[in-house]
Amino acid sequence: MTKFTIGSEEHKKAFCRSFIDTHDAWEPQSLPWPDLKQDALARLRAMPFWDEAISTEAEVAHKVAALVPLQRDPILREAVELQGLEEARHSELLKTMLERYDIPQPPIRPPKLHSDPDWGFLRMGYGECFDSFFAFGLFPLARQARLFPLPLLELLEPIVDEEARHILFFANWVAYCRARMPWYQRPLHRARCAAAMAIQVGGRARTAIDAARGSSNHSSDDDFMIGVQDALDLDFTPREVVETCLIENDSRLRSYDGRLLRPTFVPTLARILRQALPRK
Ligand SMILES: [Fe+2]
Ligand SMILES: [Fe+2]
Repeated sequence: MTKFTIGSEEHKKAFCRSFIDTHDAWEPQSLPWPDLKQDALARLRAMPFWDEAISTEAEVAHKVAALVPLQRDPILREAVELQGLEEARHSELLKTMLERYDIPQPPIRPPKLHSDPDWGFLRMGYGECFDSFFAFGLFPLARQARLFPLPLLELLEPIVDEEARHILFFANWVAYCRARMPWYQRPLHRARCAAAMAIQVGGRARTAIDAARGSSNHSSDDDFMIGVQDALDLDFTPREVVETCLIENDSRLRSYDGRLLRPTFVPTLARILRQALPRK
């Protein structure tokens, strides 16, 4: 494969094509939903985060869709449009699952949109980098703990796979946009990205502290992944969770074009955290 410079036409084509060409056209209603036994159904019904999960996916879909009109480049526009469609489909998939298993549909929070779609997308993207990293690890841990029937977990796999594509696209989109700016605008862009990242990480740190204190009100807006981890009540040490997330993060992103950038901030934080966590 020929090398490219970040911010070049080749870079743009590579990260957009990698995203567009790996899009899978499935419909939530046509998936082979397995029949579940009573205990599995009860566990599914007892999960307290469906409203948050559906609302978050729907809100992300709106935030991505808001960025579409700002994309003047046809291939960037196509990729962002496709991501919006996939996010809306995630929300639809969860709603379809509740319908399929006779779980009452929770009230959905109206989406909170930013007046600046670019800022909204930055905040959303860094949030996804964080949440996807944990989702990558929690999925196999839930499988290992036999928390849900395997066929159901298999069926929900596309969400996790698509999130891997989203954060890969996001990392490259941010770098591409910055590289195309005149040099004097780049520090401000860096500062915006750092602020967006700090807000998302800060929100999740608060959620984690609330969860550790046993507060039931720790899951807020778009940082529900830690609430999910808490609700799943998995019997693994924090170190095991972090290690699994790191392994799964590498594995989920390995198959994509090796020339593309990968999100690095959350895995770096996780590696530092791993050193600080006790082995047992
Ligand atoms: Fe999603
Ligand atoms: Fe996503």
